[in-house]
Amino acid sequence: MEADSQEDESHHERAGCPVLVTERLVLRTPHTEDTDALTCLANNARVATMVSRMPHPYTRKDAADFIRRSKTGAIGKCIYAVTNAEDGRFLGCCGIEPQDDPATLELGYWIGEPHWGNGYATEAAHAVIDMAFRTRSIDCIDVRCRVTNLASRRVIHKCGFQFQGTGMAKSLALGSTVPVEWYRLDRKTWISLRSWAAA
Ligand SMILES: CC(C)(COP(=O)(O)OP(=O)(O)OC[C@H]1O[C@@H](n2cnc3c(N)ncnc32)[C@H](O)[C@@H]1OP(=O)(O)O)[C@@H](O)C(=O)NCCC(=O)NCCS
Repeated sequence: MEADSQEDESHHERAGCPVLVTERLVLRTPHTEDTDALTCLANNARVATMVSRMPHPYTRKDAADFIRRSKTGAIGKCIYAVTNAEDGRFLGCCGIEPQDDPATLELGYWIGEPHWGNGYATEAAHAVIDMAFRTRSIDCIDVRCRVTNLASRRVIHKCGFQFQGTGMAKSLALGSTVPVEWYRLDRKTWISLRSWAAA
């Protein structure tokens, strides 16, 4: 009974986070079955030190906690498992979360190192950006990356984000703050870029 109501609750809270299907990917709720792949891919300093809130080292318990929290996240927040559409393999994560300003969401993503360089982050980000502008009354989406993160900066540019400024952000894995670049994609620019689906 309790399990049913928890299930209902997570369905309700994920209601604004539809499964997203792209040419090569399926973006869906993280499942318990992802625990091993998530633990393995996330336990990598090259990933953890580039995102803000990933512990390092990354344990099975961290993965289990993350999966549980992503099922019952705040309203408006969508955390997706990025998976291979052909074989269902877990590749990484991509998500959006609300900011203090209700007209703005923040985008985040990471892909496991064995899968880098295949265009997966860009493809996943496009899908989440499209979903966010289509289903929410937002004006813009923000993203932040470390100034040293050339691959992420390239993904950000490929998605049409525009540079806003620099600042500092906390890094859980490093236990310190690091210099970051802040980028923004506004609705008007997104509409004019929508041709990416046809490209
Ligand atoms: C950043 C990250 C998500 C990119 O994932 P990905 O699936 O390899 O990204 P894509 O293949 O879509 O695009 C990567 C782009 O960066 C380019 N790139 C990769 N390494 C680069 C480098 N050292 N310098 C410059 N460009 C680089 C690639 O050539 C590609 O650009 P292209 O399509 O013009 O050739 C992945 O490296 C990652 O998860 N890193 C650790 C976590 C992280 O940084 N998350 C983002 C936090 S803001």
